[in-house]
Amino acid sequence: MSKKLRLGVNIDHVATIRNARGSVYPDPVRAAKLAEEAGADGITAHLREDRRHIRDADIEALHAALSTPLNFEMASTPEMQQIALRHVPHACCIVPEKREELTTEGGLDVAADQARLKEYLAPLVDAGTRVSMFIGHEPRQIEASARVGAQVVELHTGMYCDLHFAGRFEERDAELEALRAGAAYAHELGLEVHAGHGLTYDTVRPIAQIPQIQELNIGHFLIAEAVFMGLGPAVTHMRHLMDATRG
Ligand code: PXP
Repeated sequence: MSKKLRLGVNIDHVATIRNARGSVYPDPVRAAKLAEEAGADGITAHLREDRRHIRDADIEALHAALSTPLNFEMASTPEMQQIALRHVPHACCIVPEKREELTTEGGLDVAADQARLKEYLAPLVDAGTRVSMFIGHEPRQIEASARVGAQVVELHTGMYCDLHFAGRFEERDAELEALRAGAAYAHELGLEVHAGHGLTYDTVRPIAQIPQIQELNIGHFLIAEAVFMGLGPAVTHMRHLMDATRG
């Protein structure tokens, strides 16, 4: 088991609140610095095609201000590739993106788009960014991710969290088992394994126990919890739960 489990804090929804009023606050860069001080090992930001939360200027400012790695979430479009190649962030996580969805609803169908993705990723890998595919736990998606040249897969934990909060515990446990098997298989294929989406204090522990997982990316719940306890304490508590599970 990799002992240290890294925490990437997704600060998109600080920008959602800022944009709701067209103001300049709250500032996602300030949130990112606070998260770093509170124990985040990296910052994640998703520049969506419609710029509904993070904007281009935020990416520039984050890149300049961060002392931890930036994980740039992006759809596999030519525009996003250009932006990623301009900044060369530590990591790029390729996500599916639909304008009409509220958040990233499912994993990427890498298996159905292998030739294009292989060509798309090559310049990013050559530039030195670590490329990650946001996928479900299906073996064919894991195998396809290895084939297209990704170094990392991030397993989508959204379904597991939804089933937990719906009280559908048998199905939740089956989903958890499939995530465990997916993490083991990805590791066997030489991929680094991350996970994220929908994680909370209630759902993080079983995921943190999966030995092959090296990083969790968590956003919405931490920003929501910050309303009640402040962002620093919210991040520190998540860090504590993750460390206690691994320790
Ligand atoms: N990982 C990926 C690839 C995502 O798209 C998101 C959501 O932007 C997250 C992690 C974080 O999910 P949440 O905000 O639900 O914690």
